Amino acid sequence: MSTYESYAEYYHDLTKYTPEGIASSKHILDFGNQPVPYKEYPNKKTIDLSYLLPLDRNPFSDVGIKNPTDFTKEEKELALISKLLYFTNGITAMIPYEDKPFYMRSSPSAGGLYPTEIYLISSGHEGLDDGIYNFNVLKQVLVKLFDGNVKEKLSKALFDNPDLESGSLFLVLTGVFYRSSWRYQDRAYRRICLDTGHVIGNIDLVSDHLGLKALLFGGFKDKEVNEILSLDEDEEQALAVIALVNKDKKVNEKSEKSRTIPSRLDNKNIKTPEGIRLIQLHNRSSIEENVKVPDIKIENIEEKIKFSSSISFEKTKENFNWQNNLFNTIVKRRSTRSYSSDPISKEELGLMLDFAYHPGPDYFDLSLLQTFVAVNNVTGLEEGCYFYSKDGRHLRQLRFKNLRDEVYYLCLGQELGYKASAVVFHTADLSRAVFKYGERAYRYLHLDAGHIGQRLNLAAINMDLGVSGIGGFFDDKVNELLGIPEHEAVVYITTLGVPVKPVA
Ligand SMILES: Cc1cc2nc3c(=O)[nH]c(=O)nc-3n(C[C@H](O)[C@H](O)[C@H](O)COP(=O)(O)O)c2cc1C
Repeated sequence: MSTYESYAEYYHDLTKYTPEGIASSKHILDFGNQPVPYKEYPNKKTIDLSYLLPLDRNPFSDVGIKNPTDFTKEEKELALISKLLYFTNGITAMIPYEDKPFYMRSSPSAGGLYPTEIYLISSGHEGLDDGIYNFNVLKQVLVKLFDGNVKEKLSKALFDNPDLESGSLFLVLTGVFYRSSWRYQDRAYRRICLDTGHVIGNIDLVSDHLGLKALLFGGFKDKEVNEILSLDEDEEQALAVIALVNKDKKVNEKSEKSRTIPSRLDNKNIKTPEGIRLIQLHNRSSIEENVKVPDIKIENIEEKIKFSSSISFEKTKENFNWQNNLFNTIVKRRSTRSYSSDPISKEELGLMLDFAYHPGPDYFDLSLLQTFVAVNNVTGLEEGCYFYSKDGRHLRQLRFKNLRDEVYYLCLGQELGYKASAVVFHTADLSRAVFKYGERAYRYLHLDAGHIGQRLNLAAINMDLGVSGIGGFFDDKVNELLGIPEHEAVVYITTLGVPVKPVA
């Protein structure tokens, strides 16, 4: 008899980094079989989107950038799609290594492995023929994979959710497992979902900027969505579906047909060898039928720590005004490689945290995630460890101590953890989460944490601060640092601080 209620908890435990595990790891990177971070479809028809971008010059081809005032009606529609895809996951920088260039994207990715693929489904959309397209980031083109209308099939796979009806464009985000498991083995599933969450964060903001609302669907019949895209399920599977609808469209907030649907729990034959746990977790979290979400309350950690008085953030400005600088911020976003150890201010920290949760982006289920902050150097705040209440928008101090050494150690000795001014931790009570959403909870948690991470990224960059995600950490050491129970799973870490500016 297994002692795990779910495969997700088993997977989580067995993919924890421990000092002993890292020291004894025999994994070496197989550079002969290094994955390629994009898909090639020779002989398929393509639609060039590059010359429609709002850039000074076209980095993708010799075709010059076209002046928007000269766009045809069709090009106007394609330009919107081009912007959406480019500022979501397009190529925004290149490092000219000797053997081959390394392309960096508008979304960050653990290890720069980019496991997330984006497919676009068009159905009755003016300016783009019905069909299924793959977004080729290397050329900024759409590759037509299938000619025809698949909306009915998609709708069926999404349990005929009425929120889908008014959409004529749909995105399917998939994870190409090997791209990330090549380096991170079974633990890669965490990073694939976090990476995809970052992509979702961009989609949410960019869509809004373009007058669209991105409706996020996590609950769908996996087999049917994968089949629509003709995916080889051993290699790649769908993680999220997004309907792009008019911004003014009313969504069914309390609809019986939730967009975050549970899967079953599947702890049968739980003992599985290393190397197949990633695909096992994904497959065991697949959905075949629509099960209602059980009405359970996720324990609020704050109720237990009320003894420490709350520290509120003064709101110095009404969130961020992205009107003129969302695209610039996305293009200049890079993960900080080195912090100066200088302080950020309490107000800056408050603004970044506030932006992560407000005004209400489309998350799967935020109630599952808890937020903690280790303060290394923030003016206006004592050093130590804090709980952040996303609803109350305040902090409660848990530990009064300089934690730099501990954070440095638990981030696997990465200097980012030591020199960051503040380090944000997202954790979740995994046993409650799987009770609510079955094995699928693991996806939702990591996709949401990545999404939050992307908002923290953009808020930091917008204020000329530094930021980097940390996907590699000694899990149990984080619990020790935060003083949270063992069953609380650490999902993601984001470091924030003052970047060391490159010497001019
Ligand atoms: C989920 C996730 C985990 C990451 N983990 C680390 C990490 O542990 N250490 C690190 O230095 N950078 C980490 N990064 C940053 C990536 O290395 C970075 O995104 C990638 O090299 C691409 O560079 P860019 O973000 O500047 O575009 C992480 C990024 C993501 C999205």
